[in-house]
Amino acid sequence: MTQELSTAAPAHLPRQRGDWWRDAVIYQVYVRSFADSDGDGIGDLRGIRERLPHLAGLGVDAVWITPFYASPQADGGYDVSDYRAVDPLFGELSDADDLVREAHRLGLRVIVDIVPNHTSDRHPWFRAALAGGPERAYYHFRPGKGEHGELPPNDWESVFGGAAWTRVEAPDGNGGASQPEAGGEWYLHLFAPEQPDLNWEHPAVHEELASVLRFWLDLGVDGFRIDVAHGMVKADGMPDIGLREQAKMIGAQVLPFFDQDGVHEIHRTWRRLLDGYEGERIGVAEAWAPTSERLALYVRPDEMHQAFNFQFLRCPWDPERMREIIDASLAATTSVGAPTTWVLSNHDVVRHPTRYGDGTTGLRRARAAALLMLALPGSTYIYQGEELGLPEVTDLPDEVRQDPSFFRAEGQDGFRDGCRVPIPWTRSGSSYGFGSGGSWLPQPDSWGELSVEAQTGVPGSTLELYRAALAVRREHPGLGAGDAVTWLDAPEGVLVLARDGFLCTTNTTDADVELPVPGTALLSSATPWFGDGTVRLPADSSTWWAI
Ligand code: NOJ
Repeated sequence: MTQELSTAAPAHLPRQRGDWWRDAVIYQVYVRSFADSDGDGIGDLRGIRERLPHLAGLGVDAVWITPFYASPQADGGYDVSDYRAVDPLFGELSDADDLVREAHRLGLRVIVDIVPNHTSDRHPWFRAALAGGPERAYYHFRPGKGEHGELPPNDWESVFGGAAWTRVEAPDGNGGASQPEAGGEWYLHLFAPEQPDLNWEHPAVHEELASVLRFWLDLGVDGFRIDVAHGMVKADGMPDIGLREQAKMIGAQVLPFFDQDGVHEIHRTWRRLLDGYEGERIGVAEAWAPTSERLALYVRPDEMHQAFNFQFLRCPWDPERMREIIDASLAATTSVGAPTTWVLSNHDVVRHPTRYGDGTTGLRRARAAALLMLALPGSTYIYQGEELGLPEVTDLPDEVRQDPSFFRAEGQDGFRDGCRVPIPWTRSGSSYGFGSGGSWLPQPDSWGELSVEAQTGVPGSTLELYRAALAVRREHPGLGAGDAVTWLDAPEGVLVLARDGFLCTTNTTDADVELPVPGTALLSSATPWFGDGTVRLPADSSTWWAI
């Protein structure tokens, strides 16, 4: 580990109180697309370290970094071949160490991704499994159905499209698709074929992943985002589902490969492991559960600290639905004593300005949604570029696309490259300041005007809106606290949410709406007009008020 510990004062002090994660604002860095320090067109760990002052200045509490481990990159690093090594694309282990130290110096905590549901097909375990070693038991190998075993063992489909099973040659070199009669088995992969699912019935899998967690905790990370936290345990006997298009059912019903009750035992074990470390190290579950109640099971007191609220992310720009989902989410997590964890965008979904509408309408709504979200009790995740109001890039040519789901039928995640385009830092220059050697996905010509440089200091810019919102949240610690909100009577299409000494008004309609002035305006996503004791809230806007 190369960097010396610095004694310089942090730029802003981390909040020292306990339970820091309950109302933390956490910034997601998609490592390939954040900042490139060596000019190879791909973001890296040094790039992140150099840009940490942007995050400290934005006012977030922590940063979550997507996988940077050794990987053939069949799925953007979610196919890990060595959990303890940094992929040379992204740097070295010492860069990870330097990054954690520097983040801590700046008062930022660091959460790293862990991918326990599957390894890469290049992981030494899987190579040994293919060669017929005992490691075969660490994965799900099964004989096929049909006269010669030429049909998959069951009807499960991959999230990325196609069958969830791939046939291999028998360890003696026979079999496989070209020699069905020679009897090669099939292995399970709920995602790409390059991502074989681990068999969590095997104690060696538990031991190895626990050891990996300890490795990164010893290096100083503050927690883990747990990939596919709902997927490690499969239903006994791996029964057929009997229906096609299973990816569309994810998050809508319990499937024999997702959200099985057995996963909670793993989360309990991991919680004990996290609690064994000094400081509050946390786990955040990426769990797709059909209801708020089932999602809340992942954040019971002896399980993970947080679980992303994808129901909120999936909610359309509809005030009734938003209010229902907010209430149901808060009720469910409160019943287990946990905070709700709000999120609007990430590296797997269409960016929310584009989801909410075309062009300026989408952006107006996105800004309003951000203030609504940041007014809610609980923790919030911000996806890189969201603070710049970046839209989805919808016109990427097919030849530049890299998302595995693009190459396999229609998967649940759709085409995810459009939200992964490297973000702009400067008005002009190579890849708008992302790096000196271009960017692995082309950036639109309009990107320069959306850059950090172009928006800094510009009143009303989306970047300044986020900076101001996070500053207000810091000054009013009550904003993320608590576990419920009160809704006040409001005209149709307007949400008025009351917290202690504070109001958030959100006009979701496409016209301005007049209200009696409810308090002292603190911050608006679009400037309201004041009359004699009244205020007109612009269409698709939110305002924060002190009352
Ligand atoms: C969820 C991750 O966010 C996504 O990017 C990945 O493709 C799948 N899990 C599989 O690891």
